[in-house]
Amino acid sequence: MGRLVGIDFGTTNCSMAYLDQGKPKVILDKDRYKTIPSVVYYYKKSDEIRLMVGRAARSKFVENPFCTIHSIKRFIGKSFEMEEIKQAQERYYYIIEKNEKADSHQQDIMIKINEYDMAISPVEIATYIFRYLKQTAESFLKETVDEVVITMPTTYQTRYAQAIRQIAENVGLNVVGMLTETNATAYAFGYINRGDHTIAVYDLGGGTFDFSLFRRVPGGYEELATLGEAWLGGDDFDYTIMQYLIREFKNSTRNKRFADGKVYKDGITLTNKDVLRAIQDEAEKAKIALSETETTLIHVSKVIPEIDPSVDLNLKLSRDVLEYVVSDLVEKSITIALDAQENGFTLDPKLKLDALLLVGGQSRMPKIKQRLRETFGDIIFDQILPEEGVAIGAAIYGNVLKVVQKRKQEPQ
Ligand SMILES: Nc1ncnc2c1ncn2[C@@H]1O[C@H](COP(=O)(O)OP(=O)(O)OP(=O)(O)O)[C@@H](O)[C@H]1O
Ligand SMILES: [Mg+2]
Repeated sequence: MGRLVGIDFGTTNCSMAYLDQGKPKVILDKDRYKTIPSVVYYYKKSDEIRLMVGRAARSKFVENPFCTIHSIKRFIGKSFEMEEIKQAQERYYYIIEKNEKADSHQQDIMIKINEYDMAISPVEIATYIFRYLKQTAESFLKETVDEVVITMPTTYQTRYAQAIRQIAENVGLNVVGMLTETNATAYAFGYINRGDHTIAVYDLGGGTFDFSLFRRVPGGYEELATLGEAWLGGDDFDYTIMQYLIREFKNSTRNKRFADGKVYKDGITLTNKDVLRAIQDEAEKAKIALSETETTLIHVSKVIPEIDPSVDLNLKLSRDVLEYVVSDLVEKSITIALDAQENGFTLDPKLKLDALLLVGGQSRMPKIKQRLRETFGDIIFDQILPEEGVAIGAAIYGNVLKVVQKRKQEPQ
């Protein structure tokens, strides 16, 4: 029998962990990265349609966004008529269609790739990602992986869980358990901290935000409250920074004469889609850099090729400005966190938090930590890395399940 692996299947990135002689460890991919982008890229080679998964696929987004399928987790277990799908249609470059032939038991969302005249279901795309995860884990561990615990979002759990079990089965993985991402994070904390405790988990990933409160109970955790927002995450930060860069560029071109001979009184609004994608990509890089440094330079070349091919976008962005630009998003997450805490108080007026755990890449932003400290006090627990907590917790939970199972099988 192979090894049990905990899988955090994220909207943006996946990560995996396992227990090595009882100690949780994160699985690295062939390039030694801890996370694997949840992206599949379709391309043609020698008249054959092929695909790549993970980091290589993600790097194709700026070049060919119509064939770069990301954020597929949003569609798992959903139906075409749902509000979330409409929002995805507005935001994503690839085409999302309704499968008219689907019966009431089947999922009716299809991803269309016009370039190759093909339509693929989200389950199929996720299956490619899971196959890649299994291969990555097996080549890292040098043994077969056949059992997994998979984490899930805090909403749409029943249909999501059904679909994920199917996807895992498609690649030969037996799902021994599922739990929410925030609940898994609690298990990662419980591994380090024995004894009774009440904790909060702030999970700000690429696409979604969740805030949950948990109390340690015998054998696991009781969820006291959970609130979240389906469209609040790093992607929104990137988009907001991009809008700021566009505004700044417009201001800097006001009343200036360009190679086309015209003077632009109000400045130039960037509209070229290729340029906008490149700016969004640079916005994300700058945002990540500013979690470590105070200033960073943003450069995108040839942003107005039709007007003046010699013009580049060059801008120095400071951490202060970044914090100002995205303050609404940060505050939105804090408000949701406070509302969740309020719900917890309704249940237990004496509720007191012993620790606050931060997961999701976007929670690395220093301003977020500062605001959380101001709001909840000095209780941030920083021994769990934001990229690792969910997968590690899943692996620990898997182990708990196996111990329970073993006990049941032993003669009384
Ligand atoms: N150092 C950093 N500072 C700020 N943001 C970061 C940093 N590192 C990563 N991010 C952001 O974190 C986001 C990805 O987070 P993560 O990988 O946790 O998402 P996910 O788990 O796939 O998404 P979800 O939880 O919504 O399903 C991206 O928007 C990325 O830009
Ligand atoms: Mg996540």
